[in-house]
Amino acid sequence: MKSIREIKNLKGKKVLVRVDFNVPVGDDGVVDGKEDWRIKAVLPTIQYLLKKEAKIILMAHLGRPEGKVVEEMKLGPVQDRLSELLELSVTRAPDCVGDMVKEIVDEMQAGEIVLLENLRFYKEEEKDDEEFARKLASSADIYVNDAFSVSHRAHASVSAITKFLPSYAGFLLEKEVKILSEAINNPQKPATIIIGGAKAETKLPIIKFVMDKYNHILVGGVVANVILKAKGIDTGQSLIGDIDPEEAKKIDLDNKKLYIPFDVIVCNSKIKRVELTPVGKIGDERILDIGPDTEELFSKIIVDSKMIIWNGPMGKFENEKFASGTRKIAEAMVKSKGYKIIGGGDTIAALSQFGYLDKVDYVCTGGGAMLEFLAGEKMPGIEALK
Ligand code: 3PG
Repeated sequence: MKSIREIKNLKGKKVLVRVDFNVPVGDDGVVDGKEDWRIKAVLPTIQYLLKKEAKIILMAHLGRPEGKVVEEMKLGPVQDRLSELLELSVTRAPDCVGDMVKEIVDEMQAGEIVLLENLRFYKEEEKDDEEFARKLASSADIYVNDAFSVSHRAHASVSAITKFLPSYAGFLLEKEVKILSEAINNPQKPATIIIGGAKAETKLPIIKFVMDKYNHILVGGVVANVILKAKGIDTGQSLIGDIDPEEAKKIDLDNKKLYIPFDVIVCNSKIKRVELTPVGKIGDERILDIGPDTEELFSKIIVDSKMIIWNGPMGKFENEKFASGTRKIAEAMVKSKGYKIIGGGDTIAALSQFGYLDKVDYVCTGGGAMLEFLAGEKMPGIEALK
């Protein structure tokens, strides 16, 4: 990937930067200071371009408006938060392509920032449409991708656009790729990966990919339910999502590196009765957390590890009755002297809930993107920059 650092003369150049400002917006139309980490993460690239006196055109999406203009998904709240963080006025264009955008960009002075309106108001964006990409590119001299977390999408602003402009990676994209590549291909040993949460179909490929590279793979959440079921162990009414548990058999389920819960916290469907039980005796109940013996084993492994990657909580941590497993994993991470990487919205929310978010070494901005990267998949946004 060519780096933004390699661009010789940025003064007065129109630089179109793909960022990921897909952040939660409150009912009050404000981006909360606790939820703005994706905006903060691209500030180094924006500040570098400001210092170099470039004209900065930012493009982003918010939510999944499916090719229609959705009032609540306009980027006004993001514009406000970005202006606050930069202590600068950021102009927002009413669209992302068209004559109006061209007029606004033509009037920009060096060191000014324009934020284009939500790219996904056009269905062409998600279709990686070349004509749409050409229109986006027509307002700029240079393209920079600083959105690792969208780079797993073959979308026009991430992929097709690189056909029309000299294209570079921003500081955030570079950093995320470097940290995750080293973590996955060359980890300090012992190395441990913790996989939990839902959407097992996106996480089983990671387990398969890291089996030869990591010493310990600790599994909780719905992903563990799927593996237990695939092994023919009773999981009662536990959630497994849309996946066929047979899929889990693509992994060597008897590999000694793979650790699944052996005691769990269960409850009935109305969450009236919460009980600790060994796995295999779930009956009509549901698994909602790992049990204390599993917590203890997982914690010991984590504390002794030199590299730890974590994506996905151990249980339904939002409910205090089922938060213990996730909290104990978080505490073990904090205790460990190893290098700690976390990612995924729920894991970040859990660490933030427990007050440990600043105790990890790297918080990846990517949700789906991190999962695909850890599973060794090629990402269109990164491939397009090679
Ligand atoms: C994310 O929130 O993970 C990214 O912004 C990508 O969003 P998407 O899953 O809607 O493509």
